[in-house]
Amino acid sequence: MSILSKHKIIETNATLLMVLSLLVVTVGGIVEIAPLFYLENTIEKVKGVRPYTPLEMSGRNIYIREGCYVCHSQMIRPLRDEVERYGHYSLAAESMYDHPFQWGSKRTGPDLARVGGRYSDEWHVNHMTDPRAVVPESVMPTYGFMLNAVLDGKYIGDTLKANAMVGVPYDAEMLTEAKADFAAQADPDSDSDGLQARYGGKVNVRNFDGQPELTEMDALIAYLQVLGTMVDFSTFEPDASR
Ligand code: HEC
Repeated sequence: MSILSKHKIIETNATLLMVLSLLVVTVGGIVEIAPLFYLENTIEKVKGVRPYTPLEMSGRNIYIREGCYVCHSQMIRPLRDEVERYGHYSLAAESMYDHPFQWGSKRTGPDLARVGGRYSDEWHVNHMTDPRAVVPESVMPTYGFMLNAVLDGKYIGDTLKANAMVGVPYDAEMLTEAKADFAAQADPDSDSDGLQARYGGKVNVRNFDGQPELTEMDALIAYLQVLGTMVDFSTFEPDASR
């Protein structure tokens, strides 16, 4: 009797087949899942990565609301053509505070993971208002209405709180000062010491859309301008022990 003919015993006995299948799936599952409990962290900690400021977080919410991820990815893959075009490949840590992450799966437009600092704020205002005025062959929709959509940051503290609940390290002070920090970042004349003490001296503080009101355009551009800029890649070294 060959081993294959013995297999017939299993195949003709539904209960035995079920018990053995369950055993195989269990062993496979344990092998995959158990190590995760013993790893301290599956994401390498990287210097510079911080939670989004309240204004950047508002911009991120607008990005999600408008479905920018339908046409734009935020994940530079470690392939030569991507790295040459977009910059250093994306690190897991760079989206560790993104709930939900914006990696995307389609690129009708370019990857945006490192668009921060690539263009001026004015370029973004012009491009968002009329993409064809900047890139004639563009198929991107217009978003000029954001210049008229005034934001007051009424619920930004709640947004931060929700993110804190899922593990983003917003501390008590960041939560209570959320609305003040929100306004301070878009006002170059404001006292932004508190904001920068909480989120770091590198935080961009300026009037992003160039008009007096704080609008959705300010928030969106604040978000776009920080994308991919938190890690200093002139000093970054991957952790070789992993
Ligand atoms: C229908 C698809 C589509 C949608 C939706 C879309 N875009 Fe685009 N986007 C494009 C295309 C195509 C380009 C390249 C041509 C251009 O620059 O306009 C582009 C370019 C860009 C650029 C310039 C990137 C670079 O590196 O040159 C930015 C920034 C951008 N989009 C932001 C956004 C934001 C923010 C949203 C959501 C509010 C958005 N896009 C929604 C298609 C889209």
